[in-house]
Parts: sequence; C-alpha cells; structure tokens
Amino acid sequence: MIERLEQLAEEANQETAKAENVKELDKVRVKYLGKKGPITEVLRGMGKLTSEERPKVGQKANEVREEIQKQIDEKTSALERKELESRLEAEGIDVTLPGKPLKRGARHPLTAVVEEIEDIFIGLGFGVTEGPEIETDYYNFEKLNLPKEHPARDMQDSFYITEELLLRTQTSPVQARTMEERNGRGPVKIVCPGKVYRRDDDDATHSHQFMQIEGLYVDENIRMSDLKGVLEAFVKKYFGEERSIRLRPSFFPFTEPSVEVDVTCGICKGGGCRICKHSGWIEVLGAGMVHPRVLEMSGFDPEVYSGFAFGMGVERFAMLKYGIDDIRHFYTNDVRFLNQFKRV
Ligand code: PHE
Repeated sequence: MIERLEQLAEEANQETAKAENVKELDKVRVKYLGKKGPITEVLRGMGKLTSEERPKVGQKANEVREEIQKQIDEKTSALERKELESRLEAEGIDVTLPGKPLKRGARHPLTAVVEEIEDIFIGLGFGVTEGPEIETDYYNFEKLNLPKEHPARDMQDSFYITEELLLRTQTSPVQARTMEERNGRGPVKIVCPGKVYRRDDDDATHSHQFMQIEGLYVDENIRMSDLKGVLEAFVKKYFGEERSIRLRPSFFPFTEPSVEVDVTCGICKGGGCRICKHSGWIEVLGAGMVHPRVLEMSGFDPEVYSGFAFGMGVERFAMLKYGIDDIRHFYTNDVRFLNQFKRV
C-alpha cells in the first residue's frame, strides 16, 4: 500500500508538471485528492490492515496528500505569475515607438491681428478695455452726440433688439462708458477691441458682423498733432517703417474735426496701382478730436480736457497685411485658409 501511495504521488506530480493552465490543475486535484480519488480509496481500505501497518499507511497517505497539494499550489502560482507576465508584456507600452502626432490648431487670423494691434498700442502707453456687444441706444448713439432722429444714424444701419437695446454698431460706446467711469478725471488712454454688427449685405468687403478697435486718449492739452503722431507710429509698426499716413477731412458726430486716415499703398508704395485706384493711398481708419459735447456728456470739462479718438476695422487691417481678398474667409472657417496662419 505504501508503494501504491508513492506511485500515486509520482503520477500526480507528473500530471501536475504537465498541466498548462489552472483548469487542468484543478482536474488533477479532483482526480487525486477528490472524494472519489485513489487516495481516499486507500484510506477506506485501511480497515483491512494490521494495527501495526495502519498508522504507517495513514501517515504516508497524509504525506502524499500534502505533497500533491503542495505541488499543485506551487504550479498554480507559477502559472498565475506567467500569465500576469505575458499580459503585462502584451499590454506594455513601447516608449521607443514614435508618438501619434497631435494636430495643432492655428490662432484665428483676426485674434492674431487684434493681439498684434493691442501690443503696439500697449507699447505706446494705452490700456485695453472691453465692453458689451448688446448695447443700449444711449451708449451706442446718444452719448456719442447722436440723438434720436439724427441723420448720421443712417451711416450705421443697426440690429435693434428692443427700442432701447441693439447690437452695438461700433466700439465707440466703450469710450463713453470708460469716460463715465473715470468721473471727469484724466488721463484716459485706452484701446477697445471687439465685435460690432451692422445691417449690411455680406459680400467680399462687407460683413454684418465684423471687428473694430477703438482708441481714445483724453487728457489736458491733447492736440491733433498727438493724434497724427500716434497713428503714424502705429501704422509704421503694423505695416512697415516705409509706410506713411495722410489725414483727409471727414465727418463723425462724436469728433470735431474728423478725419479719414490713409496709408501709402503697400503694392505700389504710393506710385498708383489698381489696388489703390491709382491714388497711391488706401483708407484705413476714421479718427478725430473728441467732440466737446461728448466730453461734457461723459463728465469731462471740455475747457480743461481734450482728446482724440480713432476707430479701425480689424478685418481690413488683416486683409491689407496678408493680401486676403474676401472678408468672408474670416467667417467661413475653411481650415485650408486658417492653417496658413499657423505661424502668425
Ligand atoms: N466709430 C466710427 C465708425 O465705426 C469710427 C471712429 C471711431 C471714428 C472714433 C472716429 C473716432 O465708423
């Protein structure tokens, strides 16, 4: 019987060694150690043994059982370890593989141009201020010397929301708001970028929504020559040192005198070409000395303070600088167009 037990141990260990997975091992366990297995059978037959043999066989049977169980346990943990290792290997990250390239977006050209213009004015000592796009009639028009029924309101066809509320037609209301906040004390030296809205039919040069940057400098002794100097410095920084400006008389209700500002044509350098309609000049912005009534309405004493203001279209500045021929490109968001501004 002892021999039979040893033989069983041998067989069981061999089968354990051969098992390739946990399931097979379990079969081995059931086969040898289960209730119907050969060892249980041996133990059952112990009644026939002599009292001398009985404890020996019993002891052996227990040893064999423990041994088989030990082998199975060891094999189980070995198999589990191997499985974990191969799983780790399969799921492992190869850090030497090249990464998937991330598609980088580009800054929108209008954002880039606004930031560039802001930076130039910051360099000239201006701060940056913003205001609401839904504006009151009061700030958009009345406070800028444009009472109701004033014919100049027709210059800017508006989107009204209610009688008193509209989508702002210009960034100029930010001037009025800022002056009002300052309680009649200068200096006020700001640029105000933002979206504006006008009831225009969209075409290559018109858009019902576009962007402006407004500028305002109010202090004691601000003169027209200051306006010219600031704008000339700005234009040279933005378009290039070789460019210059000229001022032509114009009309805006909130400035007096008012001017249109032209810059020398970048294509013909002032010689005259198709782009500048053979004048050598391109109109880029409106400006003027702040109307005394506007100063007064915003709490500034026009006897003490004077100032200049200007307003420019961001799209126009972007189109001139980058040779863009249709304003709609900025708003249709074709990535082939936008990607060209990756390095701007
Ligand atoms: N707000 C004017 C416009 O949109 C531009 C402007 C601003 C002109 C400030 C003069 C001074 O047409």
